[in-house]
Amino acid sequence: MKGLILAAGRGTRLRPLTHTRPKPVIRVAGRPIIHYAVENLLEAGVEEIGVVVSPETEGDLRLALEGYPVGYVLQEEPQGLAHAVAVARDFLGGSPFVLYLGDNLFQKGIRPYLEAFQEGVSAVIALVRVADPRQFGVAVLEGDRIVRLLEKPKEPPSDLAVAGVYVFSEEVWEALGDLKPSARGEYEITDAIQGLLDRGKKVVGVEVQGWWKDTGRPEDLLDANRLLLEELSPRVEGEVVESTLTGRVVVEKGARVAGSTVIGPAFIGEGAEVEGAYVGPFTSLGPGARVVGSEVEYSILEDQAALEHVALRLQESILGVGVKVRSRNGLPRAHRLVLGDLSQVELA
Ligand code: TTP
Repeated sequence: MKGLILAAGRGTRLRPLTHTRPKPVIRVAGRPIIHYAVENLLEAGVEEIGVVVSPETEGDLRLALEGYPVGYVLQEEPQGLAHAVAVARDFLGGSPFVLYLGDNLFQKGIRPYLEAFQEGVSAVIALVRVADPRQFGVAVLEGDRIVRLLEKPKEPPSDLAVAGVYVFSEEVWEALGDLKPSARGEYEITDAIQGLLDRGKKVVGVEVQGWWKDTGRPEDLLDANRLLLEELSPRVEGEVVESTLTGRVVVEKGARVAGSTVIGPAFIGEGAEVEGAYVGPFTSLGPGARVVGSEVEYSILEDQAALEHVALRLQESILGVGVKVRSRNGLPRAHRLVLGDLSQVELA
């Protein structure tokens, strides 16, 4: 069994964060999203892992995955999930494989899908019940067998959405060979699965256990951060001076918390600095981030981001790598902003 993680998308819904860095390297609970995918695969015994990257995302992904036992496959253009699989054909060879969307998180890992595959089926699809399935691939089941699959249906026939993990036998190559681009111009993996169904192959759905998160939008990143922080084991390896840490807090090595209050669950990354500050629940600070004379909660500060002497508490916010937010003293009393394309600022 091999593993294929897809990480070659454009991430348009997460702009401007994804203008400079691919979505799977954004940190949630202190770690790049893609680390969780690699670890879930390794934990399930999948040791040969390929990561599909684009020319734009390759550099950042190689950096984020340094030390991990993975190879890389280049997809020149993000022409769809089925296209990403097709470009990895040499890597996958004749082996069955797990397809894992690099921006998806599964609390309980992926073992149940691999186990269902051992029953001798053509494919296993992870399914999740959602309130509004219209944004997803939607499955119709008879028993555990999928009989029909629809991409983003206007009138969903069930509430079972396709989550981002699939297990395929080599039979999928035949179905992939027939594919035509969909109305949105992409080679859809749901069409390939429908191709298996049309050939009378057995495709089973297995419901996701625990939570599942697709980190497509900014609010999903904050929610994923919350869900992962809920599972944090407290650990203090950095320096804590005249401060109160309450609840589950991680202070990584080289980090410094001084004259501050931190209420967990919260993650203070390597070399981060918290001084005269309040860091509230569900906040993650990346390596080298700074919170000085300010308050922040339910937020993500990426590597080297800084929040300094800001009077109002920052909440539900994501500061990208190297972003600086600081108060401006003196006259005129005005906001001074230097923002990249598509930045979003909400001022109180
Ligand atoms: P999507 O979330 O469908 O696409 P995206 O990441 O480009 O985001 P957006 O819709 O906001 O533009 O993709 C799911 C995962 O699959 C994601 O990790 C990127 C990856 N992917 C590829 O590797 N190749 C592709 O051709 C596509 C479409 C996605």
